[in-house]
Amino acid sequence: MLILGIETSCDDTAAAVVRDGTRILSSVVASQDAIHGEYGGVVPELASRRHIEDIIPVVEEGLKRANVKMDDIDAIGVTQGPGLVGSILVGLSFAKAVSYVKGKPFVGVNHLEAHPLAVFLEEEGEKKEVPEFPFVALIVSGGHTALLSFNDFIEYRVLGQTRDDAAGEAFDKVAKLLGLGYPGGVAIDRIARDGDPEAFAFTRPYIAKGNLEFSFSGIKTAVLNVVKGLERKGPVERLPDETVKDLAASFQEAVVEVLVTKALWALDKTGSVNLVCAGGVACNSRLRTRLDEMARDKGIRLFIPPTHFCSDNGAMVAAAAYHMVKKGIRGELSMNARPSWQQG
Ligand code: KG4
Ligand code: ZN
Repeated sequence: MLILGIETSCDDTAAAVVRDGTRILSSVVASQDAIHGEYGGVVPELASRRHIEDIIPVVEEGLKRANVKMDDIDAIGVTQGPGLVGSILVGLSFAKAVSYVKGKPFVGVNHLEAHPLAVFLEEEGEKKEVPEFPFVALIVSGGHTALLSFNDFIEYRVLGQTRDDAAGEAFDKVAKLLGLGYPGGVAIDRIARDGDPEAFAFTRPYIAKGNLEFSFSGIKTAVLNVVKGLERKGPVERLPDETVKDLAASFQEAVVEVLVTKALWALDKTGSVNLVCAGGVACNSRLRTRLDEMARDKGIRLFIPPTHFCSDNGAMVAAAAYHMVKKGIRGELSMNARPSWQQG
């Protein structure tokens, strides 16, 4: 079954053609980083306008690279939420219009449920090991942090999620206050390599032993307080580069330690030895290393998609849509965007 997957929940316009939920025929992502960079974060109105400009060329490019026509597509999967309402509406309205005109079924996909399914995607010539069910998914994105236990492709229960800032949001906010620009996660990742992760002792927000919820707003405030304290000592135009690197490394270490520890607690709780990590923050090199070490030490089977399928893409949406369509789920033209769609 050929699925066209469309993703416009935030600031990437993405489309992909995927066969049977695994085989990627094409994946195209038009990033808006350059537009939002100068504002230090995503400007929703600019994002939706750019999606409107990009959606048709991106889908056309996706079909072209897959060497298929819209008539060859069996169904369309589109992100219905969560995310920015104006952005979601562009992809959703486009999918509905194509569905109506071409008489193709479409389904509205929960973006966060789609992220972990990226581990099942295979590129040309690739044959991958995949996780067995049940597996634990650690989803770390710009808008959400969650631990889910998957019993089947789109069947899962929520073990814990963010109480306040998501991991990616904390990365982006800390990067902004350190003057590193947007998007911040990748900038922190890069400079933290030259910093001392023990230079600043940020408290790890575990909430309670065994607790699987997340709270990252306190670490962000702690970084802000350190920066203010340093500036009070002697007002400077900007902090010394070494201090910024140490702050980035110390902040990153604290966040990563909490994520890795809670993933392990979730595995203990569910009795599973299969862990999937996905979402934009799963691109983080320190998180990948620490998860690898944990997996080796504890005999865990770890699955992390390649970085281009950790961040937002249409292929993961197509993978989720495939399993929904197979289960008989169908979207309706009256369906609306679900910007605050909760999992579960
Ligand atoms: O999943 P995603 O592409 O979009 C959402 O669904 O939100 O995640 C984007 C988030 C941003 O907060 C971005 O700063 C973060 O992922 N991110 C990273 C890295 N690359 C992207 N965070 C830490 N380290 C990275 N290398
Ligand atoms: Zn995402």
